[in-house]
Amino acid sequence: MTLPLPHLYSGKVRDVYAVGDDQLLMVTSDRLSAFDVVLDEPILHKGRVLTAISAFWSEVLADIAGSHLVSTDVNDLEPAVAAAEPDLAGRIMLCRKAEMLSIECIVRGYLSGSAWKEYKASGTMHGQALPAGLQESDQLPEPAFTPSTKSDVHDENISFARAVDLVGEEQATQARAISMALYTRGAEMARERGIIIADTKFELGVVDGELVVCDEVMTPDSSRFWPVAEWVPGSTPPSFDKQPVRDYLETLDWDKNPPPPPLPAEVVTATSSRYIEAYERITGRSFSAWPGVS
Ligand SMILES: Nc1ncnc2c1ncn2[C@@H]1O[C@H](COP(=O)(O)OP(=O)(O)O)[C@@H](O)[C@H]1O
Ligand SMILES: [Mg+2]
Repeated sequence: MTLPLPHLYSGKVRDVYAVGDDQLLMVTSDRLSAFDVVLDEPILHKGRVLTAISAFWSEVLADIAGSHLVSTDVNDLEPAVAAAEPDLAGRIMLCRKAEMLSIECIVRGYLSGSAWKEYKASGTMHGQALPAGLQESDQLPEPAFTPSTKSDVHDENISFARAVDLVGEEQATQARAISMALYTRGAEMARERGIIIADTKFELGVVDGELVVCDEVMTPDSSRFWPVAEWVPGSTPPSFDKQPVRDYLETLDWDKNPPPPPLPAEVVTATSSRYIEAYERITGRSFSAWPGVS
């Protein structure tokens, strides 16, 4: 995708452009990665789902913290930009450009992933002691702020004290308070609708001297979403969104290195449906009302 704007960055999922001096345009593609490899087949509407979920949280959690988000409406773009690419509707975030914090603001409500690995090895999580006898995927006694460094290669789990060293006491404390409040309320809402948000990663940044929520917010890509009905402590619950893909890939003799194998059409369709279902469950809104869908 090329828009008539200065192109700043293309990640696994997003293309980022500059809009004037103080705004960014983030375009979220339908690319999906599994086992850290970007698959060849786009997942229809996935970028719209991620955009719609982020916009929903920014709206309903606005009392907790400000957001970088200015608009998701293509009509707020310059006409020449909006006309340059037919598939933009519903997948754009026009944002205020932030000075990003150099830490990832992770909050965990359940013991999984790298935190489970550390706990198994040493009984701690990001260096903090946890009660003995917890199982994989157990709910933690209370949600915990578990930051990590930001690195292109390998994020490192760090203690709160290290976060203070990296960004300063005031910002670390404020980032923790914002992240915990967003997760606590968001996870509660999602759980009532059948989805466990086991953990999530926020990216915060400073705009006009204020710490605000940037990037995507509590999406299936930045979080672990589990179906409540299939959560069994002591095992790894299925991913709400990626499970059809993972299940399929596990049937193959693939070493999880690029190039990825092709996905059958029915796996692509099933995965797209899961993303859409995640949006509809969490928000209680119909995805067909989102721009660019029908
Ligand atoms: N408001 C913002 N201001 C500046 N940078 C931002 C803002 N929101 C998100 N970002 C950055 O833009 C990039 C988004 O692209 P993405 O494809 O998600 O990257 P990644 O593959 O690194 O996750 C990230 O590096 C993120 O930190
Ligand atoms: Mg990202």
